[in-house]
Parts: sequence; C-alpha cells; structure tokens
Amino acid sequence: MAEDLTITASTDKAEQYQSSIPQIRALIEGEPDLVANLANICAALKEQFKWFWIGFYLVKDNELVLGPFQGPVACTRIGLGKGVCGTAWQQEKTLIVPNVEEFPGHIACSSLSQSEIVVPVFHEGKVTAVLDADSEALDHFDETDASYLEKIVTLVNFT
Ligand code: SME
Repeated sequence: MAEDLTITASTDKAEQYQSSIPQIRALIEGEPDLVANLANICAALKEQFKWFWIGFYLVKDNELVLGPFQGPVACTRIGLGKGVCGTAWQQEKTLIVPNVEEFPGHIACSSLSQSEIVVPVFHEGKVTAVLDADSEALDHFDETDASYLEKIVTLVNFT
C-alpha cells in the first residue's frame, strides 16, 4: 500500500476528489481488514478536505454503531430512522443537509457542526454502513460530494 498522501492545493472540489480517489484506492488495495481500510479512508479525506468530522457508522444488530472516524468524539449508537444517519440508512439514499438545524431529529454530536452529508454503503443490496461528513460551514456539501463519496464507498470490500 501507499503510505504517503499528496494533498492537492486545488480549491476545486472535483479536482480534490480526483486527486484523492486513486490514492485511497492505493491505500486500501490488498488490505483485507475492514477497520484498517475505513480508518485510512477517513484519514485521507480529513487531510484533503479538513472537514470538521468524517467517519463511518456500521450496522450492527439493527443499530448504527460508531466506527473509524476523524474529528471530535461522537455519539456511539444511532437507531434506524434516527438523525441524518439513521434516516439515510432507512431511506437507502444519500442525504445532503445544508443546515442541520432545519433537519427534524438531527442528532447534534457537536454544536459546531452546521451542515452534513450521509452516504449509505451497500453490500449485497443491503445497507451495511453509512459514511457521515460534517462541516462547520452552512451549505458545505453538494451533489459533487455525493457522487464522489458514493464512488469512494464502493472501493471498500464490506465482507
Ligand atoms: N449528526 C448525525 C449524528 C452523527 S454526528 O454528526 C458525528 C445525525 O444526525 O445522524
């Protein structure tokens, strides 16, 4: 695996993802351990994008349980349909929340987080995890983030 990360100075979001994705692929290539790979994906995204929080919640016994992440401590368990994460899991689709205060039932792990994106991860047609990114800025995430993050989560083997 590659152990160095090149951070692009580009401020163009798509270019940042295009720089990150091959590096993420190289980081996790050949490594079968799920936690190791999720941890490195979080670290790589955090270094490139400097988001407030980035992490995975894994479906375990019909709950989302906190997995590898980068950022401040976060709530550990989220039920189906609860918060943005539990809603993305239930609806099986990516949710972009421009202002978390306007999302009914949003779970505020930190009062500093203002906008959020949650991307479900599928394995054999079922949601097995979600990827959650939080920003201190309002309206930070858009369809560009959604499409690239959806691609990134397909790089991981969730077996
Ligand atoms: N805000 C999320 C909870 C997870 S934290 O943001 C890390 C939610 O509403 O599901």
